[in-house]
Amino acid sequence: MIRVRKIAHASYEMPDLDKQTEYYTDVLGLTLTAKDKDAVYLANTVDHHSVVLRKGDQAKCVRVGFQISPEADLDEFEKQTKAHGVKTSRKKDPEPTIADMLVFEDPKGTTIEVFKRADFAHQKFGGKGVVPHKLGHVAFHCEDVKKVSKFYVDVLGFRESDWMADFFVFLRCGPDHHTINLMGTGSNRHFHTAFEVRNWGQLQEACDFLSLNGYRTLWGPGRHGIGHNLFAYHRSPNGLIITVLGNGAVPKNGSASLIVGLVFILGGVAIFVAVYTRYALAVQACVVENLGAWASIKRSVSLSKGGRLRIAAVYMLFLILSWIASRPSHGSLVWRQLRGTTESLSLL
Ligand SMILES: [Fe+2]
Repeated sequence: MIRVRKIAHASYEMPDLDKQTEYYTDVLGLTLTAKDKDAVYLANTVDHHSVVLRKGDQAKCVRVGFQISPEADLDEFEKQTKAHGVKTSRKKDPEPTIADMLVFEDPKGTTIEVFKRADFAHQKFGGKGVVPHKLGHVAFHCEDVKKVSKFYVDVLGFRESDWMADFFVFLRCGPDHHTINLMGTGSNRHFHTAFEVRNWGQLQEACDFLSLNGYRTLWGPGRHGIGHNLFAYHRSPNGLIITVLGNGAVPKNGSASLIVGLVFILGGVAIFVAVYTRYALAVQACVVENLGAWASIKRSVSLSKGGRLRIAAVYMLFLILSWIASRPSHGSLVWRQLRGTTESLSLL
């Protein structure tokens, strides 16, 4: 399967194009790279544009662009998309730096644009405003979150990073924890768009800059549990929510998680056998000294058979729980929520 690899841009419609353009350039700190009678193109620092603004009767996010790798075949990607019963079309030279674009709709009505881009445009950092270095993710409210999530996984090749209960999914198409978030709230509309900054220092300066320029923080600064990102939300002049984002988690992929799990399980079995049989003191010394628990195990060797069994069982339980806590899905939710909350408190 050919998967999309990167979020490229988000396109919006809005009544007051000039005011919103001024916000993106002077406040958010993107660079205006092109403008024609229909559209304004704004860049972060890598691609020609990460945001496209067009005139419309109400503010909404209408399209999201994704890149496949330069080696992948767009014709093949179209074929595999059609195989899911999705109606597609092609556009030649639809936007600056995009020669060939595949267009189709996702189940909630957002237009998806998939294309290849061989080279970075090497935009320079802007000189004023927040100046995020990339478009991080776009989040949507959905009528049917499971259906839309399945579409992104099956058709676009996304992977699930996390679910919050059964109504909020975080999907990734690259190294970041999430690129598209979908929250089942009974309506299809934009939730927020996140732009990434380098670190907590830049986020702090961004919050100062926004508040001094009349942009009240809606939520944050703080750190999310799921995704573990630093965040601060505000509303842009057209009413849509923008998040300034930093320092997210990098998820392990499925096979890495499986390998970690197997190592924990086999380690647990080895300790169990070593402690229970008394025949593998060398293994105990090697494994357990590193855990700093040699003394307790040494004591356990002189215990009764039942005592050794109980200690070995506790070690097994500890190792299995450690493995569950290391998984990038539901198992780690409680742990990361606790960690996120603690760190958010420390920012107060
Ligand atoms: Fe977000």
